[in-house]
Amino acid sequence: MILGIETSCDETSVAVLDDDGAVRVNLIASQIERHQPFGGVVPEIASREHLQHLFPLVTKALADAGLSSSDVEAIAVTSGPGLIGALLVGVAGAQGLAYGLGVPIVPVNHLEGHIFSPYLQKDGAAIPRPERFLSLVISGGHSSIYDVRVDDVKMLNRTRDDAIGETFDKVAKFIGLPYPGGPQIEKHAREGTADRKRFPFPLPQFKDESLDFSYSGIKAGAIRLAREHDIRVGGDERALADFCATFQDALIEQLFDRLESVWSRLGEPKPSEVAIAGGVAANGVLRERIAAWGVERGVIVRLPEKRYCTDNAAMIAFAGLQRPEARTDPRRVVARSRIA
Ligand code: KG4
Ligand code: ZN
Repeated sequence: MILGIETSCDETSVAVLDDDGAVRVNLIASQIERHQPFGGVVPEIASREHLQHLFPLVTKALADAGLSSSDVEAIAVTSGPGLIGALLVGVAGAQGLAYGLGVPIVPVNHLEGHIFSPYLQKDGAAIPRPERFLSLVISGGHSSIYDVRVDDVKMLNRTRDDAIGETFDKVAKFIGLPYPGGPQIEKHAREGTADRKRFPFPLPQFKDESLDFSYSGIKAGAIRLAREHDIRVGGDERALADFCATFQDALIEQLFDRLESVWSRLGEPKPSEVAIAGGVAANGVLRERIAAWGVERGVIVRLPEKRYCTDNAAMIAFAGLQRPEARTDPRRVVARSRIA
């Protein structure tokens, strides 16, 4: 059995997984309400909240699994990237526990946690991971496509500026929607109609043949359009809904534009599966579109369950299980805010 710990941002999460990847328990203490008054995550508050919640969650996770601390064989903990103060709480906590129990730690790259999350077991039924898959990690801090093989994760593109989730959040904040903005935009978009003539969000134009994402143009365009059309919570609801629908559409369109380019340049044979992950992968419109994209091309598309899209410890423990060789002495684990 492996214990997972995730504290890289604003969710304290602890999970218990069997060695075959079946999730026994996945507890999440969300801090969203504590950060909402500030319109985004306040690092100092995040660290203090993790300190308060981590150990009670560990105790509850073991109890809910019907296990005791002596059943823990290893601890997987997010060692980066993320907010350094927040990461340190999880890493120091894991070190203390592991040292006390005499078990090893697997330091997990948060991004790898997201990358493998579509292959977490559901209802006890195994989802075999293919030899190779294409992974889109789309979250509040990352927008990248990876070519993932058993022992090699190759980044094919990245964002030049803002991440897609960050763009959702910043524009949502500007128009008065609460944090996190992604689900709020999606909710309002459901009532609206996308109209690119009325709200002309720009697509990025790179002079080079870049595969990268760039969301700062859409962000700036959205803020300008919101100002011009007086789009805000408490204003014209119809306009707000149409604005959200068009904005969401523009963000997703860029994602598909880049996915197409990456896919066509991959060469043959191509990966047999495409998997999406990260908080933005919870977006219903995006999920439908990528599922249809897969059907058109005869590619299997893997969508993580929505509860495994946003940050959670089950995906960290699962990533830890993929790397048994990375188990190490607890004293050797280091938290890093950035990982090259
Ligand atoms: O993976 P995550 O929990 O944290 C990071 O590692 O960044 O992702 C959080 C991000 C936020 O930007 C949030 O607005 C976005 O995921 N998000 C969504 C949806 N649910 C969460 N974006 C669009 N549609 C959603 N339904
Ligand atoms: Zn994340």
